[in-house]
Amino acid sequence: MEADAGKYPNMVRNKKHYCDVLVIGSGIAGLSAAIIAAEQGLDVIVLNKEASLEESNTQYAQGGIVCRGKDDTPQLLIDDIMEAGDGISNLEAVTILASEGPALVEEFLVKKIGVPFSRSDKGELEYAREASHSSRRILYCMDTTGRQIEQSLLQKAQKIERIHLFADYTAIDLLTIPHHSTNPLSLYREPQCIGAYVLNNIDEKVEMIFSSYTVLATGGLGRIYLHTTNPACATGDGFAMAYRAGARLINMEYVQFHPTSLFHKDADGFLISEAMRGEGARLMTKDNVHFMEKYSSLGDLAPRDEVSRAIYEEMIRRGDSYVYLDSASYAQIDIKKRFPAIYEKCLSLGIDILKGPIPVVPAAHYSCGGVQVDTWGRTSLKNLYAVGEVSATGIHGANRLASTSLLEGLVWGVRAAQHITTHLDNEKPYTEAEIPPWQPPEKEEEVDPALIQQDWLSIKSTMWNYVGIIRTIKRLERGRADLRYLRTRIDDFYRKAHLDPMVLNLRNGMQTALIVAEAAFSNRNSRGAHFIE
Ligand code: FAD
Ligand code: SIN
Repeated sequence: MEADAGKYPNMVRNKKHYCDVLVIGSGIAGLSAAIIAAEQGLDVIVLNKEASLEESNTQYAQGGIVCRGKDDTPQLLIDDIMEAGDGISNLEAVTILASEGPALVEEFLVKKIGVPFSRSDKGELEYAREASHSSRRILYCMDTTGRQIEQSLLQKAQKIERIHLFADYTAIDLLTIPHHSTNPLSLYREPQCIGAYVLNNIDEKVEMIFSSYTVLATGGLGRIYLHTTNPACATGDGFAMAYRAGARLINMEYVQFHPTSLFHKDADGFLISEAMRGEGARLMTKDNVHFMEKYSSLGDLAPRDEVSRAIYEEMIRRGDSYVYLDSASYAQIDIKKRFPAIYEKCLSLGIDILKGPIPVVPAAHYSCGGVQVDTWGRTSLKNLYAVGEVSATGIHGANRLASTSLLEGLVWGVRAAQHITTHLDNEKPYTEAEIPPWQPPEKEEEVDPALIQQDWLSIKSTMWNYVGIIRTIKRLERGRADLRYLRTRIDDFYRKAHLDPMVLNLRNGMQTALIVAEAAFSNRNSRGAHFIE
């Protein structure tokens, strides 16, 4: 890695790396933080555990990002977010999002980064509508908004010398003192994060990154469920790492299920954007009966938790394994032009959305809770920040309003970097010699992929069946017990295993699943996405 020779004479030594800011994750939140910090003169390392730096939840976002529509006001957005959050959104954070967010989208994403949002023939930005928004205020790039944002951010980051992008590096654990220090006197120091142990996925060796500040930007946890819209990287690593490091997590029971993922054996949770309902598409049972009016006065545009539960109930009541989303009969726009990726994907699986309805089911989509942070992204552990989906600013409360996640990642990515640069303190209350390198087990055991797959299946089906869309105390009790047992077994296996990304993903997925199950079991009040029958 290129080093700032003056500041860090040996930026890479014995597979040790040094930087001002370590950012774990290269989605919208991590890259926004990295760009701002590096532009302020800080040396930044950004990790992605995937071989491609673009791989992230951000990359798959479809509907868009909230901005400010015509006749829209910050107060209208605040009201919509608070309403969706079902009474437990953090008003201070929501107010920051609504007042700073739209200007950041325009200044940072549109003007500085050059994201090619969809425009009218006259060149004006176009705004979409999604469920529970009182105004057309969502900027989009057809139905591949996330891909365009991710690529634009990455192109920008790649041009900045002070940003060092490490693909194929998996963060294993946060380095903290006093925990990782061999100095007994470190017990008297304030606990703080000083970097991370990371696995180089290629040579499967563990390296150390020492950083003055660490920003967790590891995204979500959808993959702990059997059915999810999330890509493979969303195994909940950041929640698990923060938990092991002693940082506070909140609201973990509020896992949002998106109402409409494509029902097809080869679809792997492919999302059918809520923007389709925003453009008029309607839900109906297999015998063409619309049902949303029965459940909410907002009909098909009710909040996500309500729509997901309504679909689930209709499926259970009728014994069906899916419902239909009919855009062909109702959409008031050119479907193929507005949703080209959805059109192509469905067609490739034999479903022509111009001619007939789309079979859909709910799927795990987003974690409303996470590592608790303040309005600057600071966690309860000194020098550890968390931004984006892994964090809990409190904005989403018990249920997230559509298209606010990308915005939150942007706003808090920028705010965390601003806070770090204005409070920079490179004083190190430890010596490097007191932090030992990674200790592998004396006799490493080779990993059997069949065992890993079976453990994943147990986690995912337990979460889906017992900690899913509709929960009961009995199911939660059973789920928690099964996961506790499994965790003991997986921990034991982890201690002896030769480390590779598969092992690390499993360990984190297991831990995060248990955190969600414990939180759900402890909260007996139905609210938002946490529904107890
Ligand atoms: P991510 O974009 O998920 O990035 C996390 C990164 O961390 C990844 O690169 C991952 O590989 C990396 N990582 C994880 N663990 C480790 C580790 N141990 N070591 C190293 N790297 C690690 N939201 C909206 O606002 N609008 C939308 O239209 C929208 N559509 C969506 C559609 C889909 C299909 C999905 C799945 C989500 C959608 N969302 C949408 C939600 C939104 O995309 C995400 O919440 C948001 O992109 C999260 O951004 P992030 O930067 O926090 O994390
Ligand atoms: C969608 O396009 O339906 C996803 C939007 C979101 O998750 O905010």
